[in-house]
Amino acid sequence: MKAVSIYSYGGPEVLVQKDAPRPHIDVNEVLVQVHAAAINPVDWKVREGQLKASLPHTFPLVLGWDVSGVVAQIGSGVGRLKVGDEVFSRPDILRDGAYAEFVAIRESEVVLKPRSVDHVHAAALPLAGLTAWQALFDVAGLVSGQRILIHGAAGGVGHLAVQLARNRGAQVIGTASATNHDFLRKLGIDEVIDYWTVRFEDVVRDVDVVLDTIGGAVQERSMKVLKPGGILVSTVSAPSVGSADEHRVRHALVVMQPNAIQLTEIARMVDAGKLGVCVETILPLSDAAGAQELNRRGHTRGKIVLQVVEQSDR
Ligand SMILES: NC(=O)c1ccc[n+]([C@@H]2O[C@H](COP(=O)([O-])OP(=O)(O)OC[C@H]3O[C@@H](n4cnc5c(N)ncnc54)[C@H](OP(=O)(O)O)[C@@H]3O)[C@@H](O)[C@H]2O)c1
Repeated sequence: MKAVSIYSYGGPEVLVQKDAPRPHIDVNEVLVQVHAAAINPVDWKVREGQLKASLPHTFPLVLGWDVSGVVAQIGSGVGRLKVGDEVFSRPDILRDGAYAEFVAIRESEVVLKPRSVDHVHAAALPLAGLTAWQALFDVAGLVSGQRILIHGAAGGVGHLAVQLARNRGAQVIGTASATNHDFLRKLGIDEVIDYWTVRFEDVVRDVDVVLDTIGGAVQERSMKVLKPGGILVSTVSAPSVGSADEHRVRHALVVMQPNAIQLTEIARMVDAGKLGVCVETILPLSDAAGAQELNRRGHTRGKIVLQVVEQSDR
């Protein structure tokens, strides 16, 4: 099969497409024929070696941990899925990923993809969708009537978080460049702030939750906009304890975990028309390096996806 792997950490040039053996599956695993694999910031962070302390990978390593495809083979212990099922998944990040024609995944991490969208759009959902879900509901405990500020509202995690929060009945404020404001209004956002021209802490007060997908100074400044007892949840870095204490707010770093129940619920919401996914750019597998560099610029609207199999179904 074709696979895009790295043999060392480095710049985009270390991504190499080569023929590789099809992955072997264990008894509780399925072999998925990859139709599409989404790009996430973690892909280029791994490639650059930024995460080598927490994610001890070995080389060669196939990157890409967001996939939609078709079950091509099942292990003898697999009971829920069968060959031919159309599925999506966020596979284990410690193993080879989905920048390839096939990927081996534990059955527990794979669910049926939403029927109403193609593989390209389905592939864009698992990692960002599960992150948004877990940050909002498992960590922040967001409930109807609360107010939330979402930084990076137009990004992969952000644009899904906006919709999940609105569905939950929260009032949603977001930060984004002006070019993304109409996009976010169509997703139902209540208020959007152009972070280039307005300091969000000058116009936002007393929110219950901040979802921080940016980190650094944005995270630090966000402490001021929370009401006492409110919570800042970051996808990027653990907030400083001192600053949170000073503002009498809570804080947490979310580390997304694969979750088949939540992913099934995400698929159900997509099929019910309650959750949409935006794919800004579609590129071929052979342009994985270009796709990563595009995402690395930090202004992706929604998601960038590698299309591995041409779609003829829709
Ligand atoms: N902990 C976890 O489990 C986990 C899971 C998923 C992601 N993450 C991390 O979370 C971060 C976000 O991931 P993602 O996939 O959403 O990234 P992404 O899609 O690449 O985010 C791009 C978005 O960031 C926005 N942005 C850039 N600078 C901004 C600023 N100063 N203020 C507000 N928005 C800004 C851009 O908005 P404009 O184009 O409108 O300027 C763009 O829409 C990454 O660092 C990623 O590694 C962590």
